[in-house]
Amino acid sequence: MKKMPLMKEHFMLVGILIFCTIEDARSLDGHYTLPNVTHLTDLFHHQTLNQAFLTSFGSSNIHFGNNGSNVQLTLNKTSGSGLISLNKYNYGFFSSAIKLPPGYSSGVVVAFYMSNADLFPHNHDEIDFEFLGHENGKQWILQTNIYGNGKTNIGREEKFRLWFDPTEEFHQYSIIWNSHHIVFLVDNIPVREVENIGVMSAVYPSKPMSVYATIWDGSEWATNGGKNPVNYKYEPFVASFGEMEMEGCVWISARSVPSCSKGGQEGPSTVDPVEGEDFVKLSQQQKMGMDWARNKFMIYSYCKDPGRFPVLPPECRMR
Ligand SMILES: *[C@@H]1O[C@H](CO)[C@@H](O)[C@H](O)[C@H]1NC(C)=O
Ligand SMILES: *[C@@H]1O[C@H](CO)[C@@H](O)[C@H](O)[C@H]1NC(C)=O
Ligand SMILES: *[C@@H]1O[C@H](CO)[C@@H](O)[C@H](O)[C@H]1NC(C)=O
Repeated sequence: MKKMPLMKEHFMLVGILIFCTIEDARSLDGHYTLPNVTHLTDLFHHQTLNQAFLTSFGSSNIHFGNNGSNVQLTLNKTSGSGLISLNKYNYGFFSSAIKLPPGYSSGVVVAFYMSNADLFPHNHDEIDFEFLGHENGKQWILQTNIYGNGKTNIGREEKFRLWFDPTEEFHQYSIIWNSHHIVFLVDNIPVREVENIGVMSAVYPSKPMSVYATIWDGSEWATNGGKNPVNYKYEPFVASFGEMEMEGCVWISARSVPSCSKGGQEGPSTVDPVEGEDFVKLSQQQKMGMDWARNKFMIYSYCKDPGRFPVLPPECRMR
C-alpha cells in the first residue's frame, strides 16, 4: 500500500543510504548507532504502580519498590505473578521500562500487554509485547502480536532480536493505540505498525482494554516450540517494571463517554491525547527507524510463513 510506483526511486535511494549507514553502524564493542527518533515517552508522566494496578495473580511474588515507582514480578516453582491496571482504556499511549531476568531463562515469558478477555470473552482484543526466554540469557526474543474481535485462529506474531542486552538495564517498550494505527516501539523506535485500514479494520482492536504486566511459565511453547521448558534450578526469575505510562481515555462503563487526559496536569477531557499529529501517523524519521529495526532485527513474521498459512492472511497480500 505504501510503496506507490512514484516513490520507487526515492525508496531505492533511502534504501542505499540506510544500507551504507548500517554497514558501519555496529562498532567494535557490538553497539549500534541508533536511528534518531522523537522521544514520545518523554511526553507522559509516570504512574505510581501500586496505585494504578491491582494484583492479577501471584500476589506473594509481587514486590513494589521505591514507593511504588517500580515493581519486581517473580516466577518461581510456586507461581508466576501479574498486575492488571485499575482502569480500562479506550485508546491511548502505554509504556513501561522493563528489565528482564538475567541468566538462563528458557520457557520463561514476561509480558506487557493489553486485553479485554475478561469483558468480552467471545470477541476479545489483545495488543501484546511478549518476551520469550532463552538458554543464553542475553538473547531474549521480543514477540509482538494482536488479536481483534475474538479472531484468535490467526496469530499475527512478529519476532525480533533486540539490539541490546535486555537483562542488563531497563529499556522502554511502548504501544500507541488509536483509531488510525497500533504502533509497537522499543526505546521509542517503531518496530511494527498495524494500520486500521482495509481487511484489518474487521479485526482491529477497538474496545476498551486493561493493561497487564506478567511473568509466567510458558514451557510448552515459549522457547524453541516448547523443547526448552523452564528449569527451576535457576529460579527465581525476576522481571522489573518501572516508568509506567498509561495515558488515554479511561473507560468507565458502556454508557459513559471515555474520560481522556494527558500529562496528568490537565483535567479530564473528551479529547484523546493520542489523536494529535505525533500520534496519528509515523514521521519520515520514525519510518526510517522502523525500516532499520525490521530489516536488521526481525526474525519472524506471520506474513512470511507459508508453512503455517498455505493461503496467507489477506492483510499480508495487500503489501
Ligand atoms: C534528531 O532529529 C531532530 C528532529 O528532527 C533534530 O532536531 C536533531 O538535530 C537530530 N539529532 C541528530 C543527532 O541527528
Ligand atoms: C510515597 O507515595 C505517597 C503516595 O503517592 C506519598 O504521599 C509519599 O509522600 C511518598 N513518600 C516518599 C518518601 O516519597
Ligand atoms: C516462591 O516465592 C514465594 C514468595 O516469595 C515464596 O513464599 C515461596 O517459598 C517461593 N517458592 C519457592 C519454590 O521458592
